[in-house]
Amino acid sequence: MNEPMLVETAQALVGGGRGLLAMDESNGTCNKRFAAAGIPQTVEMRRAYRELIATTPFLGQCVSGAILYDETIRQRDSAGVLLLDRLVRAGIIPGIKVDRGAKPLALHAGETVTEGLDGLRERLEEYATMGARFAKWRGVISLGDDLPSRACIVANAQALARYAALCQEAGLVPIVEPEVLMTGGHGIERCLAATEAVLRALFEELEIQGIVLEAVILKPNMILPGLTCPNQRTVEDVAEETVQCLLRCVPAAVAGIAFLSGGQSGELASARLDAINLIARDGRGRTPWPLVFSFGRAIQQPALTIWHGEDAQIGAAQRALYHRADCNHAALRGDYTQAMETRPVLQRAS
Ligand code: 13P
Repeated sequence: MNEPMLVETAQALVGGGRGLLAMDESNGTCNKRFAAAGIPQTVEMRRAYRELIATTPFLGQCVSGAILYDETIRQRDSAGVLLLDRLVRAGIIPGIKVDRGAKPLALHAGETVTEGLDGLRERLEEYATMGARFAKWRGVISLGDDLPSRACIVANAQALARYAALCQEAGLVPIVEPEVLMTGGHGIERCLAATEAVLRALFEELEIQGIVLEAVILKPNMILPGLTCPNQRTVEDVAEETVQCLLRCVPAAVAGIAFLSGGQSGELASARLDAINLIARDGRGRTPWPLVFSFGRAIQQPALTIWHGEDAQIGAAQRALYHRADCNHAALRGDYTQAMETRPVLQRAS
């Protein structure tokens, strides 16, 4: 294992005051989002959309890394340049989603385990040759009356740890993403308890597999009430619970923490990330790791809606994409304010 190189990559991703952009939706997920926005679900439209993202002016000011999907890492822009090379030229490190999705967990109705370990060594080798420098694997944990089960927590933690070992062997930094879903009417304390159990199990399995934590990025959910819970909490409550949970469960050696957005609105995700970083700076909540973003929907959604599959809308969509990235970039410094949502973005970028 080339440990110094891995640590350097991890630091470049999370240590420089920028965050990550998740643009790694599988074809199925991307098509679902296209369908909802009234965009044709074709290979060419997916390529055009990813080109729009990869060529967004100034994106590299806010984004250190972009997570791609297998189809995207092989695609070129309209000038014939690989999208991966476009990102590199913009100062953005390319990464790749390598899991093969959450599949029903045997004997555990309503729960899933993420698959994709078979043949992963060979796939990682190919992605590394293509220029990917980090990878992502997402485990999914649902909350319900009797969920999550211990079986679901352990199965997903073990898969994440085996994936992380293969990544480090191949010279790719693993992003480990155990996502406790927001779906449901549960209170914030259920999310907190489940996330703590999941993180403790995960770090136990990472330890068993001999993972170098300095070259690992954790991609967790924030600690949130369920989407339909009547008791929605303040931004400050969410930030406080999230920071305290991570301080209890995540070893200090981990390179950094990059939150998923999980279906939160763009503005709420920015506000919560900002509050998290304000707490993480003060004495009581001071954290040993950078706390950044690795958002998908919370960065992309407005741009996708504006684009609508139309060439004439590309510029406006790119400005919207940059704007969300810029808001989240400001949140890393605790500088995000609601006023940012109404200021013109290109003036700030130039
Ligand atoms: P969201 O921010 O849309 O949750 O996507 C992040 C991600 O990478 C999910 O795996």
